[in-house]
Formats: sequence, C-alpha cells, structure tokens
Amino acid sequence: MKSYERLLLENKAWAAEQMQDDPEFFNRLLHVQTPEFLWIGCSDSRVPPDKITQTQPGEIFIHRNIANMVVHTDLNLLSVLEYAVNVLKVKHVIVCGHYGCGGVKAAMGRHNLGIINKWLRNIKDVYRYHRDEIDVLETEEGRLNRLIELNVEEQVQNLAKTSIIQKAWKDRNEPHLHGWVYDLHDGIIKPVSEIEPGHHLDDLYAFDNL
Ligand code: CO
Repeated sequence: MKSYERLLLENKAWAAEQMQDDPEFFNRLLHVQTPEFLWIGCSDSRVPPDKITQTQPGEIFIHRNIANMVVHTDLNLLSVLEYAVNVLKVKHVIVCGHYGCGGVKAAMGRHNLGIINKWLRNIKDVYRYHRDEIDVLETEEGRLNRLIELNVEEQVQNLAKTSIIQKAWKDRNEPHLHGWVYDLHDGIIKPVSEIEPGHHLDDLYAFDNL
C-alpha cells in the first residue's frame, strides 16, 4: 500500500465510525457552519488545532501559516479574517504559536532561505523591537522561546490594528483576541496575551471613521 492510500482508508474508517456514533453528524453540518472561534496557527504538523483542543468539525475556523503571522498585506489572512469576523461572526480570535517553532528559529538565524526570507523578515522585525529583552537571556532556547511568546503578542496586536477588528468592536463589541503558545513537550497551551473589545489603541493605529 502506498503511504497516501492509508489516508483514504483511514478516512473511510473515520466516516463509518462517525455515522455509527452519531447518525445525524453529517446532516447537521451539511448546510451551516457556526464556529465560535477563528484560529490562526503555525503550519507545523505537530500542532493540529482541533486535536489539541478536542474540538469537533464545525467548531473552529482555521488559518495556518509559517509561524502564525498576521501580516497586514497578506490577502489570504485578511480574507479569512474578514469572513470569520463579518460573516461567521466569531466571538474569539486565537493566535496560537508553539515553543520550538522552526519558523521563528530560522528568523533568528542568518541562513538564506530564498523566498521564505521575505516571510521571516516580519519575525525579524519583532525581534528588533524586543532585542533588549531577548538578548539578555542566557540560552539560545530561552531566547527562541521568549521571541515565540513576543511574536504571538505582536500578531495579536496586529489583529487589533486592522479595520476589520476595530469595526467589529464598534458594531458588536466582539471578537475577543487571544495569544497562546503550545508546548510540544507536554501538549499544554499557555495563554500569553489578551485584548478585549474596545481596547484603546495607540492613536497612530486607531481609525476614527469606521
Ligand atoms: Co512553527
């Protein structure tokens, strides 16, 4: 059997099991999705959002990229955010990074990775903003993991800087923004930051004609 054929076999087994456990499962999800959460996570295969939160199909709207970035020119991210916030009306947006993130580690190094450099430069900027705090840490692992936490915080702030989030705050006092970091060692998620609707932003980023 070829490796990918296992996926198709497992899919059949999963569908049969779902039907057996809950015959209405597929019918219920057929016409509507009403997830309460938008998850912006790392593409890393070891951090599957629904698995680590034990959520079911229909519960989380998901966007993943290298190092869980919120880049203000990323049309893909912005389209997902727009749809999740204004059509699905999610109550919470979660940015979830993870300790030991290879994307963040690469951004701390000087190796030329071609087109990936352009993506990682956004993380290098986060490092630069917080260089004093990071560079005093003694171990490479400590510096990496602190940058991972700070990067998550920065991406949560990037969400708050979008007109999409600011308008939703004004219109319906939602969504809440959360920054989390997952630990590959024990599978536990640590909350590191939170921004409530209506949070006062630096005037530089606050729109006044929403
Ligand atoms: Co990662």
